[in-house]
Amino acid sequence: MTLSPQPLGRLAIIGWPVSHSRSPLIHNYWLAAQGQSARYEAYPIDPQDDFRAALLDMAAAGFIGANVTVPHKEAAFAAMDEVSAAAQNLGAVNTISFQNGRLIGDNTDGDGFLAGLQTVTPNQDWQKTPALILGAGGAARAIIAALGRAGVPDIRLVNRTRAKAEALSDLAAHINIGDWQDRDGLAEGCGLLINTTSLGMAGQPPLNMVVQGLQKNALVSDIVYTPLHTPLLRAAQAGGFICVDGLGMLLNQAALSFEIWTGTRPDITPELRGLLLADLDEKD
Ligand code: ATR
Repeated sequence: MTLSPQPLGRLAIIGWPVSHSRSPLIHNYWLAAQGQSARYEAYPIDPQDDFRAALLDMAAAGFIGANVTVPHKEAAFAAMDEVSAAAQNLGAVNTISFQNGRLIGDNTDGDGFLAGLQTVTPNQDWQKTPALILGAGGAARAIIAALGRAGVPDIRLVNRTRAKAEALSDLAAHINIGDWQDRDGLAEGCGLLINTTSLGMAGQPPLNMVVQGLQKNALVSDIVYTPLHTPLLRAAQAGGFICVDGLGMLLNQAALSFEIWTGTRPDITPELRGLLLADLDEKD
């Protein structure tokens, strides 16, 4: 006899705007794979609204969990009754659980990013080498904190606006801030290069970066996924480096959120990746 799963409540991604989000596609795939009738919805909340009141309305309407995206991750943090250590460290929440009227916040962005790297290189040699991070926005914060937890010995950070990079220097041990224009030289000897800026995204200028100085077998990761094959990743591939595209973080942070709500880590299957690629009008 096959047992039906315990019915879940509703799930959502909260943002403003939020209709472009691929999270419903990803989570509804996993809900269907588990035989759940629950749906994961796009849920806009106007930044002018009282955010905590809007969340309590969601709990009353039967939601058991939600992801949070731009521009609400910091407002979500402020609205929680309880937060995880990862969320506390970042001052930002991307995963909410509604539990008996209480709002519990977590942040899976950093660990999702690491999981994306581990899928590509399970030997994890990059953990023992210097890493160069480009950018100092919300994604960079989560990634830097995660690299610190992973024990990366030298986290080199550059950002167009240097002061924003300097404001992140307490996120992990061994962060070294450099100048944006020195990025090619700072890549020398790194086993990991990560672009968290919007450069390379459709409609934005490409990221000009010389990757030749990276260590042999270095990982090059771009969190941009529109387009999937950014100019940076094309250059890295041509140079023989290992590439981790933007779907790695997107899928793995989602899987960690799904596990928080259901207790089960869902599979990131080739079929799911194929559905996402088709939705993005991209190919591997
Ligand atoms: P997210 O939260 O997704 O990380 P964000 O907070 O908007 O996004 O950050 C965007 C990043 O891209 C920033 O590091 C930004 O640099 P500044 O802090 O100097 O604004 C970077 N960025 C955007 N356009 C850029 C450009 N033309 N050249 C260099 N960096 C750029």
